[in-house]
Amino acid sequence: MRVIIERDGEAVSRRAAYFIARLIRRKPACVLGLATGSSPVGTYQELIRLHREDGLDFSRVTTFNLDEYVGLSPAHPQSYRAFMQEQLFKHVNLPPNQTHVPDGRALDFETASREYELRIRESGGIDLQLLGIGTDGHIAFNEPGSSLGSRTRLKSLTSETIRDNARFFSNPDQVPRLAITMGVGTILEARRCLLVAIGANKAQAIRETIEGPVTSQITASALQLHRDVIVVVDEEAASQLARRSYYEEVERSQQLLESGNYSALGIGGFAHDS
Ligand code: F6R
Repeated sequence: MRVIIERDGEAVSRRAAYFIARLIRRKPACVLGLATGSSPVGTYQELIRLHREDGLDFSRVTTFNLDEYVGLSPAHPQSYRAFMQEQLFKHVNLPPNQTHVPDGRALDFETASREYELRIRESGGIDLQLLGIGTDGHIAFNEPGSSLGSRTRLKSLTSETIRDNARFFSNPDQVPRLAITMGVGTILEARRCLLVAIGANKAQAIRETIEGPVTSQITASALQLHRDVIVVVDEEAASQLARRSYYEEVERSQQLLESGNYSALGIGGFAHDS
């Protein structure tokens, strides 16, 4: 797991957007897994800026969102489809038929979930999955206790998540109690996972995700089993990490490697080579 600690939320967003933009440039027909909520908003703003100012081209990109509330139509302002439309889709050249959000109106959720998984597979699988994290350590809506092998399905939200998300609704009683969500197993199949967390209220969940045991009680901890995970956090979200100085050391080495500064890493020119 690569842990990157940035000064503040803005820097987190810039860094996350950098990884996504680099993928789009290297693989224009890539498949992105996207998230909603407050965490990725800055990342989307930076991607929009890169589209407008740097010509970042979304025309061949396909997207799959993690989840959707049950009972909200795509036109409902609090639906995740509407969120994506407002925060990203309408600002970039992403063809609407290449964007996918689970259907919160489906009556047969089992079939709808199976079809969502099938569509992901048919698209070639997710290259990069962007993730936020709940204060209870959830990824997508995989609440504590979710099977770490779970697939897309219907899920009841915990009272903690309902309370956290009430800020987006004018009346807290309107927060849906159910969601259709990718499973932990679905997420772990993405080729790369990119988790962003901003703010002190995420500090405990981030510590448990990175330094705690792998447990279904903190579903984000399952990311420890994935071979390519990048976690980008701000100072506040990093504040409970015990091995912070090591993560910073690893990051310094990574930067030197990426910039080709091998001598600073002591690579090459070995004194005792013959
Ligand atoms: C949203 C999602 C959720 C959020 C999480 C954090 O698609 O999958 O797991 O990422 O609840 O939400 P925010 O970012 O609003 O704190």
